Amino acid sequence: MFDIKEVRKDFPILSREVYGKPLVYLDSAASSQKPRHVMENIKKFEETDYANVHRGIHFLSNASTDAFEMARKKVKIFLNANREEEIIFTLGATDSINLVANSLGENFFKKDDEIILTVMEHHSNIVPWHFLREKVGVKIKWVDCDDQGNISLDDIKNIVTERTKLISITEMSNVLGSKTPLKEIINFSHEREILVLVDGCQGAAHNIIDVQELDCDFYVFSGHKIYGPTGVGVLYGKFDILDNMPPWRGGGEMIREVKKDSITYADLPSRFEAGTPNITQAIGLGFAIDYFTSKINDGLFSYEKEIAQYFHNEVQGIKKIKVYGEKNISSPLISFTVDGTHPHDIATLIDREGVAIRAGHHCCQPLLKFLNVNSTARASIGMYTDKNDIDIFIKALDKAITFFD
Ligand SMILES: Cc1ncc(COP(=O)(O)O)c(C=O)c1O
Repeated sequence: MFDIKEVRKDFPILSREVYGKPLVYLDSAASSQKPRHVMENIKKFEETDYANVHRGIHFLSNASTDAFEMARKKVKIFLNANREEEIIFTLGATDSINLVANSLGENFFKKDDEIILTVMEHHSNIVPWHFLREKVGVKIKWVDCDDQGNISLDDIKNIVTERTKLISITEMSNVLGSKTPLKEIINFSHEREILVLVDGCQGAAHNIIDVQELDCDFYVFSGHKIYGPTGVGVLYGKFDILDNMPPWRGGGEMIREVKKDSITYADLPSRFEAGTPNITQAIGLGFAIDYFTSKINDGLFSYEKEIAQYFHNEVQGIKKIKVYGEKNISSPLISFTVDGTHPHDIATLIDREGVAIRAGHHCCQPLLKFLNVNSTARASIGMYTDKNDIDIFIKALDKAITFFD
């Protein structure tokens, strides 16, 4: 059984105060906090087993390599990938998408080929494709959502042509909290040999992921949003696709042979992991997956849904508030504005009550433009959020609104 009291004890940061008030952390969509299990095991690894991976024959190098490869195995199981070689460690989701965009690059895309994005994408799933637009001349086509963040397959069907090569789409909007109909989109795309990349940054933190069932070609996420360290992320890619992609970054470990006048490349996954990787962070991600998976098995997602619904109910009862995507009542995040007050002012004032939320464009300028708003405040929950957090947030928000009235 998921036991919120016990879970909260696992996150040391929750016992600190800010401005003399207990911390209420409602910014997990930006970055989640880390449980003691992750921090202590990282420390232990660094104190006892750390060395560079893959290169040595000495004891520590082997211990470090084993731990690093064990982390890959954990990610493989977490995503239900078919093979460990399909798991590439990157610096984060942004890096993973840049890897795909650069590796596919001119080898795969020709001038006037088309990439479809939704208006809800995070800048990290927009800018790398803009680079390709500038470099190769690909066309970026956009699919709008409705005001709740729903995407219609028909809208995608209407803009797909024989030049469409890729659909790159978020699993869950980091502004509206809506989920996209991935399965339908992927089935449709594959009938037309269109590749699909899924940005799982928000989705991976709140859903069971099964890349084989989903049948996506690529899936990316960041460690720091699933209770792991920053500086590590994952690119999952289907073996046959990755195996036919050229490397992007060059350096140590990604080669088979280097001569003065030629090079050959290593097999997967090394081909895409040039240089010394973020060893400790990848291993930390493995520990985060252990912890996260055990909480999922305890019923985390039903608990989260209950908290999310409580959260939405309470927020929607507040005067002068406009919630974006208000019908997504089970979503783990709420974006809102308060009539007549800038979101930054709201966030700043409630910070003084110990409540951490975010305000701004959330790296989603096309979406905010579409929603006709410059900035929103966003509060988001994690596995450690309890009803008391929500109650404190609501009181702080009420107080801020009354202050600016
Ligand atoms: C939906 C989505 N995609 C991509 C990213 C980028 O993640 P990172 O900065 O960890 O690479 C984020 C981060 O907020 C996100 O929410």
